Amino acid sequence: MNNQLLVASHAAGKGTEADAVFSILQKANAAIAKYGKANVVNGSIGAIYDEEEKFATLYAVEDYLRKLPAQELMNYAPIAGLPEFHAAAIKQTFQGCQPEDTYARAIATPGGTGAVRHVINNYLEQGQKVLIPDWAWGPYRTIAAEHLRGIETYNLFDEEYRFNLNSIMEKTEELLKTQDNIVIIFNTPAHNPTGYSITLEDWRKLIGFFKDCAVDKKKKIVPLLDMAYIDYAGTPEETRGFMKLFGGLPENILVTIAYSMSKSYLIYGLRSGALIGLSSSEEVIEEFYRVNVCSNRGIWSNGTRCAQKLLADVENNPALKAKIEEQRAFYSNLLFERAQIFIREAAEVDLQLTPYQSGFFITVPTANAQMVAERLMEERIFVVPLKKGVRVAICGIPTYKVTGIAEKIKKAL
Ligand SMILES: Cc1ncc(COP(=O)(O)O)c(C=O)c1O
Repeated sequence: MNNQLLVASHAAGKGTEADAVFSILQKANAAIAKYGKANVVNGSIGAIYDEEEKFATLYAVEDYLRKLPAQELMNYAPIAGLPEFHAAAIKQTFQGCQPEDTYARAIATPGGTGAVRHVINNYLEQGQKVLIPDWAWGPYRTIAAEHLRGIETYNLFDEEYRFNLNSIMEKTEELLKTQDNIVIIFNTPAHNPTGYSITLEDWRKLIGFFKDCAVDKKKKIVPLLDMAYIDYAGTPEETRGFMKLFGGLPENILVTIAYSMSKSYLIYGLRSGALIGLSSSEEVIEEFYRVNVCSNRGIWSNGTRCAQKLLADVENNPALKAKIEEQRAFYSNLLFERAQIFIREAAEVDLQLTPYQSGFFITVPTANAQMVAERLMEERIFVVPLKKGVRVAICGIPTYKVTGIAEKIKKAL
C-alpha cells in the first residue's frame, strides 16, 4: 500500500497500525452482539464497569453535572483554565505533600494526554528522544511521533521483575551524552499496564541521581509524572508522600505532573486534566506557565468548562468532596477485590504476573502475546496483546467473571 498520496512526508504512514486497545474493544463488542454479554469477558478498555457490566459513574459527579446551569456547562473556559480550577488541581495533586519553598502552577489540559503532549513538545527539541518505560501506555509513542520527537526506553523491571533503577540511570546518562534536554516519563502509582508503584526509597535514589545529572548546568532535566490512576492506589500519604522529596532541587530540574480527571472522576470523555509544574525557581515556573498556556491556544484552544468547575467546587464544598470520595472508595475496593481473585488464582496455577499493587490492569508477561490473546479470544475472553505481555483490564470485568481467567491464560500460554 502506498502510504503517501497527498499528505506531507512527515505524515506518511500515520495510522497504518490499528490502535491496540480500541481494535480489541471492537472485537469484544462484536462478540457481545453475537453471543450476549453473559458469554463474553471484555478485559480490553481502561474504564470501570460495575458488577452488572454497566458504565460506572460517581453519582455525586453525575448529579452535579446534570444540575449545572448552561453557562457553566457549555461556555468557553479561559485558555489557561478557570483560575479556581488551577488552585484545585494543585491541591488535588499534592494533597498536603507539596515541598516547602517550591513554586507550583497548573494549566488546564484535555486530560493527562494533553499534559504529556505539552511536556514532550515544549521541553524537547525536535528530533530529541523522550525516555519512557518499556512497559508503557502506547500513546506516549504516538504523541512523540506526532510532534517529531523520538522514543528511547528504559527497562522498568529486571529479570526478576524488580524495579530497575540501573536501567533508568544508564539510559538517562546515555541520552544526556547526545541531548541537553531530557524528559523521563514515570507512570506511577498504579502503572498502566502492570499496576506497579515506585517506592519511596526508589524515589529517594532517583532524585539523588537527577541531582547528579543536574550538576552540569547545560542539562535540563524534566521528569514527567503521569498520575492517571493515583486516586485508586491508596491514601494521599501513600500515593503522594514521595512528592515531599522534590524540595530544594536545582533550577535545571523541573518536575512536571500530568493530572487527569478521567479516572479520578470517571469522566473520561469530558477531557479534563492539568499540567502541573514544580520548581525551586519562580522564573522557571513563570516560563512554564507562559509557554504552556500559549500551547493551549495553538493546539486545542480551551478545555472543558464544566469539568473544571466540578474540580473547583469539589475543593470548595466539603460535602460534595466527601460524597465523591466515598463513591470512589467503593470502586477502589471493587478493583481490589477483582485483583485479589486474579492474583490468588494466578498463584494457584503458577502463572507469572508483573508486580501488581493497584489500579485498573494486571499484566501477564509473555513473548507470545498475540498468540495468547487470539487463543483467549476463541474462549471469548478479550485482553490486549502488548509487545511483552497481555494486559487484562480488571476494571471492566465483573468479579464473578474474573474467576477462572488466570487458569485460561495459563492454558493459552
Ligand atoms: C498511563 C496513562 N496515562 C495517561 C492517560 C490519559 O488519560 P486522559 O487523557 O484521559 O487523562 C491514560 C489513559 O488511559 C493512561 O492510561
